[in-house]
Amino acid sequence: MSNQRNVLLAANWKQNQLWDECEAFKTQLKKLCPQYWEAGFEPEVELLICPAFPYIGIIGNLLDDAEIYIGGQDVSRFGGGAYTGDVSAKMLSDSGCDYCIVGHSERRNLFGDTDAEIAVKLGQLRAEEIVPILCVGESLEQREADEAVSFTTGQLDQQKVELGKLKAGEFVVAYEPIWAIGTGKSATEADAQEMASAIRKWLVAELGKQYAAETQILYGGSVKPGNISWYVSQPDIDGVLVGGASLNAASFAQLAKACGM
Ligand code: PGA
Repeated sequence: MSNQRNVLLAANWKQNQLWDECEAFKTQLKKLCPQYWEAGFEPEVELLICPAFPYIGIIGNLLDDAEIYIGGQDVSRFGGGAYTGDVSAKMLSDSGCDYCIVGHSERRNLFGDTDAEIAVKLGQLRAEEIVPILCVGESLEQREADEAVSFTTGQLDQQKVELGKLKAGEFVVAYEPIWAIGTGKSATEADAQEMASAIRKWLVAELGKQYAAETQILYGGSVKPGNISWYVSQPDIDGVLVGGASLNAASFAQLAKACGM
């Protein structure tokens, strides 16, 4: 956490949460975090929910009067037209999204998203002024081979041109070691801080000090109420991207409280 950057608590709901679960989540969250529904509330801990595509509008309606952001989990490489199954950046924007996750390791590994395609997606999001949350992070083999930092900053190298077209503060980087996602094996705070610091150094070297000062860097991978404070207390970590522990409103509210809500 730093004084300069707000904390971002981002929920990645993946392929989870049906309509009644969305409604129950909202009802409970409003009880636990009522200040996000108060007029004029300016949160220092920013809350973001990224539901599956069909629920973006539903969550948007449910949280209409709350100071909580909505985001997509992915975006089409194409602007619109005959691309069955895809959802464009314009559609995300039109549905109320301010953010969009891009380059998540599940997209890279299960659906074959390449660095070149991720760069195109960043361009699509930029055109609609949607803030990308670019996910990077190494596999267990790469960590064991002592290649975690070089691999992860190498993923950033691949997006340098597109990131450089955005202004400082217009994108977020999420460090998500693949071996920690959904496995219950979270990174140590020292490993997470080491990587966040390497990412910030990369920002200084490749895009300049302003970018390094304003970019929120998140940690993601088995974050829970019991370990979140390890991460958000690190100087270069400005929040978390949470899957499993974000599905339940009580757990999400605990995460928000631990961030200093
Ligand atoms: P997890 O997922 O919190 O369930 O490990 C994190 C993510 O994939 O963003």
